[in-house]
Amino acid sequence: MTDALLSVRGIEKRFGGLVALAGVSMEVPKGLVYGLIGPNGSGKTTLFNVVSGFMRQDAGTVAFEGRDIGRASPHRVARLGLCRTFQATACPTRMTVMENMLLAPQDQLGEGFVNLVARPRGVSRQERAFRARARDLLAIVNLAGKADEYAGSLSGGQKKLLALAQILMADPKLILLDEPVAGVNPVLAEEIAAVIRKLRDEGRNFLIVEHNMHFIRSSCDRISVLDAGRIIAEGEPAEVLAREEVLRAYLAGPAARPAA
Ligand SMILES: Nc1ncnc2c1ncn2[C@@H]1O[C@H](COP(=O)(O)OP(=O)(O)OP(=O)(O)O)[C@@H](O)[C@H]1O
Ligand SMILES: [Mg+2]
Repeated sequence: MTDALLSVRGIEKRFGGLVALAGVSMEVPKGLVYGLIGPNGSGKTTLFNVVSGFMRQDAGTVAFEGRDIGRASPHRVARLGLCRTFQATACPTRMTVMENMLLAPQDQLGEGFVNLVARPRGVSRQERAFRARARDLLAIVNLAGKADEYAGSLSGGQKKLLALAQILMADPKLILLDEPVAGVNPVLAEEIAAVIRKLRDEGRNFLIVEHNMHFIRSSCDRISVLDAGRIIAEGEPAEVLAREEVLRAYLAGPAARPAA
């Protein structure tokens, strides 16, 4: 038993004959921005899918705060405090930024919803609280001025900031971000990085998949490198990124995979 926030042991995942994860073990300690890097197709998103409950692994275990979540649903994983974004951001574009923010907590009311409907005054009090929280979080991600605009009018980078703010509505302990600055201009990418570092300093934990090496070097405290479904290196970014086997993995492109 370790005091790791997230502990992944021996995860295997196959898609037919393709081995996407070939026995992945890693530990994400508390208090860090932890990076997961690797060439295209190395299994990063698949590992996110397994950890967040969206995919069932063929073998191995996942523990969050020492609790086994290897077979838990995405909903349960989120309720325990582990939330994620997706590689391609998709938010309802014909709703305002604020309406998008309010979607998040309503989804989490779950079984309590019936109760609330029976108590209309409770609903409005709760909605006021959600709105106040949404406003605070939009300010943190520099979108306060966009609250009443359609989400569809946001830039790609601003949509990523909105996705992060939506996740924060649930007050998660660990946030999984899949390529938070991909396709984002350098100025906004630095803004996103600064928001992430600020949230880390306030006690949030992150596990981040990203190809942008500037982001990795400037914002990650530790990284693991996946190559062809295996972890090939782990440590501080500057040191790991200088290792020959890591450079080779990136230069070689998608590695040959063993058949199942
Ligand atoms: N649902 C699926 N069905 C079949 N194969 C899949 C599925 N999801 C992923 N794969 C395969 O598993 C491998 C790992 O994919 P994954 O999406 O995890 O890579 P990645 O590291 O996130 O890549 P990228 O950096 O391009 O996002 C790839 O060969 C991919 O084609
Ligand atoms: Mg991916």
